[in-house]
Amino acid sequence: MGAGIAQVAALGGYETRLHDPVPKALEAANDRLHRALAKGATKGLWSEEAADLAGARVGAAASIGDLAECGLVIEAAPEDLELKREILAACSGAAPPDAVIVSNTSSLPMDELAEAVERPERFLGMHWFNPPEWTPGVEVIPAATTGPEVVERVVAFLRDIGKRPAVVGSRPGFVANRIQMALFLEALQCVEEGVASAQEVDEVVRSCFGFRLPFFGPFQIADMAGLDVYSSVLGTLRDGLGERFETPNALRELVEQGRMGTKSGAGFLEYSDEERERLLLERDRRYAALNELLERLPPVEAGQDGGET
Ligand SMILES: NC(=O)c1ccc[n+]([C@@H]2O[C@H](COP(=O)([O-])OP(=O)(O)OC[C@H]3O[C@@H](n4cnc5c(N)ncnc54)[C@H](O)[C@@H]3O)[C@@H](O)[C@H]2O)c1
Repeated sequence: MGAGIAQVAALGGYETRLHDPVPKALEAANDRLHRALAKGATKGLWSEEAADLAGARVGAAASIGDLAECGLVIEAAPEDLELKREILAACSGAAPPDAVIVSNTSSLPMDELAEAVERPERFLGMHWFNPPEWTPGVEVIPAATTGPEVVERVVAFLRDIGKRPAVVGSRPGFVANRIQMALFLEALQCVEEGVASAQEVDEVVRSCFGFRLPFFGPFQIADMAGLDVYSSVLGTLRDGLGERFETPNALRELVEQGRMGTKSGAGFLEYSDEERERLLLERDRRYAALNELLERLPPVEAGQDGGET
């Protein structure tokens, strides 16, 4: 993750230093990053000039002491609370007092990490997704001690390097892993119950409701489907599969208030007639473009070599 994040920062115009306490690992990551920049240019992912400029901005930092001029330090060491606390303490001691200190933890509680940081108001979580070079979304997770201007600085930095940050709370799994794991558990249960094979579940997820996900989140999708429809479907699921599908009060109340989604002008979100029309038109344009892309680049089926196209 660290080398991928460094690549995005360097391509985004930032002087970047990589550090790893194992000299061979540091050298390997630095070499891999420079090779990836050159290879990306030969494949047309970015220009030769962009690769050269980014390559010139990245270098190896032999020790944490070499971080003395960094304005932002991103820790991406193995997911171990004590190890991360040690590294964050050392980085915050070495970096300038106003440098922002960040952890790329996938799961550890922000407040327990913040305790290890000198001046913890400048610490927060920044959860990237694999592969960091390409996945646009990054969760930004303030600790209880994080200053609001630090959140703003980190959000601005991420936007500047082309990412799409979302500020979320420090609860287990934050937002992305919580939802991703709920989907995964249900998918696995479908296979275990013999409802469908793993391949069929993958096809349903990516080609049915997953098709919409690059453009719409669950609340917009529910509003477009109709909250009364969602409520009825949940009723059937609850009867057949148990209490975990009980219709939540928040949904029941919206339906009782007549807020059925786009068709009634309001659901979880509000829609004027004009906005609804624009939304549906824009939706169709995006789905048509996505279908064209999927024809050119169909899903990579398991067992196919999709790595080097
Ligand atoms: N792999 C993912 O998909 C993913 C996604 C999001 C977040 N993360 C998080 O990113 C972090 C790193 O994950 P990864 O998959 O890149 O792990 P990794 O094991 O591939 O890389 C960890 C790197 O940290 C280095 N390291 C070990 N001790 C160190 C120290 N004391 N100081 C500095 N570096 C040290 C290792 O040499 C290695 O290069 C973890 O917190 C992980 O939870 C991973």
